[in-house]
Amino acid sequence: MMIGLEQLTPGSYALATVAFTAVLLFCVAIRRRYFSPISDIPGPFLASFSVLWEVYEVIVGHIEVSVIALHKKHGYFVRISHYEVSVSHPDAIRKILLAPLRKVDWYKIMALPDHFHQTPMSEVDPKRRVERARNVAAGYALSNIIKSEPFLDDSISLLKKQWTRLAQEKTPVEFDKWFNYLAFDIIGEVTFSGSFGFLASGSDIGGSIENTRILTLYVAVMGYFQKIHRMTLGNPWISQLGMTPSQHIFDTVRRAVAAREQNQNARKDMMEQWLMERKLHPERFEERELYGVASATIGAGADTVSATLQAFYYYLLRSPQSLARLHEEIDTASAEGRFSKVVSYAEARELPFLQACTHVSVNPWVIHRSVEFFGADADEFKPERWLEPRAKDMDRYMMQFGAGYNSCPGQHLARMEISKVTATLIRDFDVRQVDPKHNWSFKSHFTAVPYDWPCYVEPRTRSIDS
Ligand code: HEM
Repeated sequence: MMIGLEQLTPGSYALATVAFTAVLLFCVAIRRRYFSPISDIPGPFLASFSVLWEVYEVIVGHIEVSVIALHKKHGYFVRISHYEVSVSHPDAIRKILLAPLRKVDWYKIMALPDHFHQTPMSEVDPKRRVERARNVAAGYALSNIIKSEPFLDDSISLLKKQWTRLAQEKTPVEFDKWFNYLAFDIIGEVTFSGSFGFLASGSDIGGSIENTRILTLYVAVMGYFQKIHRMTLGNPWISQLGMTPSQHIFDTVRRAVAAREQNQNARKDMMEQWLMERKLHPERFEERELYGVASATIGAGADTVSATLQAFYYYLLRSPQSLARLHEEIDTASAEGRFSKVVSYAEARELPFLQACTHVSVNPWVIHRSVEFFGADADEFKPERWLEPRAKDMDRYMMQFGAGYNSCPGQHLARMEISKVTATLIRDFDVRQVDPKHNWSFKSHFTAVPYDWPCYVEPRTRSIDS
């Protein structure tokens, strides 16, 4: 029986559209599942035809645990989406990360608030990525960062002062907050010659830190749905309305740049280096890229350091032997007069056991937890492994700062911050968890290590100069 078009009701049009879409989606799923070049690679069923498995795991917050389990089950290669394969092979670092391969399109989301604001991180083409990175490299160089060391000392002294006050009040210290305040204030000092004032106020002024977590969630998920991002919040017309999740960080950067312009004492900070580069090469380093890079630096340089400091304390408190050994190393150096008031980077680098403890990684877990590369104790907090002869072999597989052309430009600052902060705080404070049996819990899924485990701190010497 034939039906004339005039006989179709709005309801049957809707039904036909739904049916057509369902058939289309089904065909796409079948093609991805059975006729893709990576169809023969094992993995979760959902991952064989969509990104939904990966997005779900990102939202739940423990993708690293799930991917490790998949590698244990299936071997070196696991399909984690219809176009992505996770590799845990010993050659993965050399052949993938150290090779000039194009990055996945997920990184394009890092052009915030819209695609006019490209940065080295959002650039997926290796050659263009290297060119963009050239504009900002001088700012991140150790020779430049080290000039800000006295201002790191100011921030660390302020943290000590606040901790001493909390100790007197017998108020537990929430490490996730205080290390975040410290890391954000240090980024402010190093980038704009001025802290954001988190440590002084002891609070998340204007909800800035909370906002970076919302932004992290947005970026982590929408990276998989770039088309939707570009049509909605990532559309330049809409982004100009200032409603995007990155607006807060962007406004913070604008305010910091404006304050820096008025600041007679602005130093040779990162911004100074970038402004100089822009003056020399305005054709290749646009103003909006400069703002994008500054925002990326704040976004990438605070949570990472804070998470590392939290992990450092968390694991040490669970490993009394390691903590005792670290105290011994630091107390000996202190008794020999080898320390400044705030331990300098050069002094902290002379502490082998401390450096072994800070060899922690936030990513990528799959390689770092591999028994094949790191031995049967790969899962244990065992800093002394870095003092053993096997350290040299294992070092080849460490990629806590990434690897190759895409590695972390902030690693000098991160190493300096972490070395100084840990040496100074271990020397000056005893730390005791309020509830030692309480293991970490993920308060929010979108911070690197969001522990919720308050601790009592107690000054170790009466003569602490805060
Ligand atoms: C312990 C602390 C840190 C760790 C573990 C860390 C780790 C990493 C890793 C693994 C990447 C590569 C990410 C990827 O390709 O997906 C990266 C990129 C980046 N990091 Fe860090 N980082 C740390 C601290 C910092 C600091 C202090 C800064 C700022 C001064 C910073 C700024 C950046 C930037 C701007 C990028 C993007 C680079 C690009 O692609 O152009 N990081 N970081």
